[in-house]
Amino acid sequence: MKDRIKDLALALAPRLIEIRRHLHSHPELSGQEHQTAAYVTGVLSSCGLRVKEAIGKVGVVGELDGQGRDPRLLAIRTDMDALPIQERTPIEFVSRQPGVMHACGHDVHTTVGLGTAMVLSQLGEALPGTIRFLFQPAEEIAQGAEWMVEDGVMTDVNAILGVHVFPSIPAGKIGIRYGAMTAAADDLELTIVGESGHGARPHEAIDAIWIASQTITALQQAISRTQNPLRPVVLTIGKISGGRAPNVIADQVTMQGTVRSLHPETSEALPSWIENIVSSVCQTYGATYQLNYRRGTPSVQNDLRLTGLVESSVKEMLGADSVQIIQEPSLGAEDFSCYLKHAPGSMFRLGVGFKEKRNYPLHHPLFEVNESAIVTGVVTMACAAYNYWRH
Ligand code: NI
Repeated sequence: MKDRIKDLALALAPRLIEIRRHLHSHPELSGQEHQTAAYVTGVLSSCGLRVKEAIGKVGVVGELDGQGRDPRLLAIRTDMDALPIQERTPIEFVSRQPGVMHACGHDVHTTVGLGTAMVLSQLGEALPGTIRFLFQPAEEIAQGAEWMVEDGVMTDVNAILGVHVFPSIPAGKIGIRYGAMTAAADDLELTIVGESGHGARPHEAIDAIWIASQTITALQQAISRTQNPLRPVVLTIGKISGGRAPNVIADQVTMQGTVRSLHPETSEALPSWIENIVSSVCQTYGATYQLNYRRGTPSVQNDLRLTGLVESSVKEMLGADSVQIIQEPSLGAEDFSCYLKHAPGSMFRLGVGFKEKRNYPLHHPLFEVNESAIVTGVVTMACAAYNYWRH
């Protein structure tokens, strides 16, 4: 079966590159993936999958029935959206949509999802169970996965697999990470309210700018002194505004920031930890405050057994050298974690780096993909899916 999957994927290589280039030159922003969804629907239908459109607003779900009797349902998730970036690459299939670019490789993810469906649909009786392919919109705004889940895509799902491209891993290799893969990302907005006054008479006012600076300092210092250093917390205040004139003490400061953490217990405790510090600083100096803490995407925690399944599939198909164990998690966020509230899963990194030229990072206007990685992605995903019921 190993050779069969590999042969099918290799035979599809020219078609997969054609698909990827079509998607790349027709990128669509988060929540507007109408043409992409129609295209995905066409390919899935031609492979004989049962297809449902408009799931999770613009998402697509395709089901492939295995002929075997294993009742466990496996989901495979890929995302379809592009970014508001003006592409500057020299490639001939450059984006035809001004100001919109597949700069995060979601065109490759969609292609890997489609390629996996094309390969597995040809296995016929050899496929032991049913696979549900999820093509989600709006990953970049961290909402698509939730829309899909709200529409019931995780009902009866026993396990889920996902993929993301990674330019610093060379094409031909797969990055594997056990446990925490990406961070929980929350937002906060904090308003500190003091009392205005003459700039020369601070004792008659409550200086919101100074109290805001004390609050930021207290938060940053408290991270280093009260949080477990082996469980990272990053708090970035990226926006701050307040005050009206150089000689008038400001009565109000508003700040906005992002809060990242890796361990679920740490994430859980962060809102009240932050509020305690803010409230004690404000109380000390007589200010009041308003804190809005919004939970964002949770951390992606890769299931150990399913990650082992992916790793052993890569070794089986591509050789042990193709596995790159990822030592450090990322503090970026990924809404794949929304699916993990409903079933265990694992996400792997698909190396798309070039050896012979510079690799620009994700979300860069010059980001390019080494297309030889597409077959590697399909072989890995198809083999991991096939092995799922045999593990
Ligand atoms: Ni992405």
